Amino acid sequence: MATRQPQGESNSALIKSFSKYARGYDKHARLQKQMAERLASFLPEIIPDQILEIGCGTGLFTQHLLAHPLKTLILNDIAPDMVERLQNKLTLPRGCQIKVGNAESMEFQQVGLIAANAVFQWFKSPSETLKLLDSYLKPPGNLIFSTFGPATLAEFRQTASLESPASLLTLSQWKKLIHKAGFSLISSASETRKSFFPDTLALLKNLQQIGATPYRMTHSSDLRRLIKEYDENYSTQQGVYATWELLYFSAKNKT
Ligand SMILES: C[S@@+](CC[C@H](N)C(=O)[O-])C[C@H]1O[C@@H](n2cnc3c(N)ncnc32)[C@H](O)[C@@H]1O
Repeated sequence: MATRQPQGESNSALIKSFSKYARGYDKHARLQKQMAERLASFLPEIIPDQILEIGCGTGLFTQHLLAHPLKTLILNDIAPDMVERLQNKLTLPRGCQIKVGNAESMEFQQVGLIAANAVFQWFKSPSETLKLLDSYLKPPGNLIFSTFGPATLAEFRQTASLESPASLLTLSQWKKLIHKAGFSLISSASETRKSFFPDTLALLKNLQQIGATPYRMTHSSDLRRLIKEYDENYSTQQGVYATWELLYFSAKNKT
């Protein structure tokens, strides 16, 4: 049964963007799929009976959870269309609950594991939200998540002289927040990747299709200038590239 929470104004653009492209998300989210695979290697050896997944989207990481026998699986996402896509795609176990809403401000029951793949970069208050998530973990519960570091799409921000709309914290900033929220870090990892596209327009389209437009341009002349400069500065024989910095964390809350 799906339950929904009303959303604040500030998240409406994010919800709209993820909902609009939910249908085509799986086709274009190659990187997120690879992140989900790597994040699965951070799962604890003994999988707890009760699991909460934050920002489940269309279920790219949920599939890895469903490979284990689970008693309770709570799936959360802020964008209703992403969850709808997941429900149409996956066979969910009987003990599965869907909670549509902003994980930064909603209440969940206590679980033994919280997981999130490629979601925490969207948090407005990562520090406060980590503390909130800590309160939903029965000690000693596990938190595993992947997110994007500050080198992600740096070429765009440089070309367009714009700040990222997402919170791109460094590995060490996340580690500090994890400790401050009351967790002990078990392990972490980072990797840098480059993805290639025939040209800047194709790259921009791909970002749009995964709900992750890195900037908002008001004038089409600005957009034309950006495309021209990006094509000039970041072209290789394989096409234009974009950098992604991927971060992974596994932590335990204290007893
Ligand atoms: C890049 S997608 C990742 C989806 C999925 N975890 C995956 O691995 O493909 C980010 C997801 O986080 C959700 N999201 C963003 N902010 C959120 C929040 N505050 N609370 C819950 N979900 C959120 C978005 O709606 C979107 O589905």
